[in-house]
Amino acid sequence: MRVKHKKWAAPLMEAHPELITLDPASFKGRWQERFEKSQPLQIEVGMGKGQFIIGMAKAHPEINFIGLEIEQTVAAIALKHALPERLPNLTLICGDGAGLDTYFEDGSIDRMYLNFSDPWPKTRHEKRRLTYKSFLANYQKVVKPGGGLEFKTDNQGLFEYSLTSLNNFGMVFDGVWLNLHESPENEGNVETEYEQRFAGLGQPIYKLTAHFPGE
Ligand SMILES: C[S@@+](CC[C@H](N)C(=O)[O-])C[C@H]1O[C@@H](n2cnc3c(N)ncnc32)[C@H](O)[C@@H]1O
Repeated sequence: MRVKHKKWAAPLMEAHPELITLDPASFKGRWQERFEKSQPLQIEVGMGKGQFIIGMAKAHPEINFIGLEIEQTVAAIALKHALPERLPNLTLICGDGAGLDTYFEDGSIDRMYLNFSDPWPKTRHEKRRLTYKSFLANYQKVVKPGGGLEFKTDNQGLFEYSLTSLNNFGMVFDGVWLNLHESPENEGNVETEYEQRFAGLGQPIYKLTAHFPGE
């Protein structure tokens, strides 16, 4: 998500250390202290402006959620949206999904979400795709045995790439939907900002759920 750099972004984040951190490695091993209760932990990598992760935290008070976003201004917009909600089961990170193993202890996350990740269509940018094998290896470390990954996108090319990448990595698919909004899987679906936009244009939404081998 590209947005214009805003001067207020960094100061706003610095003013709200109770809800967002720019130094996620400093919380390694103690993320549960960021929440009112110790509960299962789920994370979205690339939360954008936070619509999905805030919606999930409202819909599932029995789960703790972390939204992670690399772009400072985008993360600050998510923070702006989250602040008035005062959700005891949500915390945010401004950081890089490539650093998950430096932010989280092995096996500490129950479920991961990737929603409408940047497609990086050029082959020379493959390593930047959030479903590239080096990212999957990183996710595998931090996700609990038995925990899984959910991925939604409107982008057919990225979806096909991700199916192949996860399959080559040895991940086990639990479900694949080629038109989420027309399927029973859509019940209870929390829409992301991009999902609303593309579904509104009549585009099908693709979804897969999978878990790592040996689980
Ligand atoms: C296309 S937007 C989708 C936002 C949101 N998930 C949605 O569905 O509305 C993808 C977001 O992922 C973020 N992103 C890309 N690479 C990332 C990374 N390595 N770590 C964290 N966030 C990343 C981008 O900055 C962007 O805000």
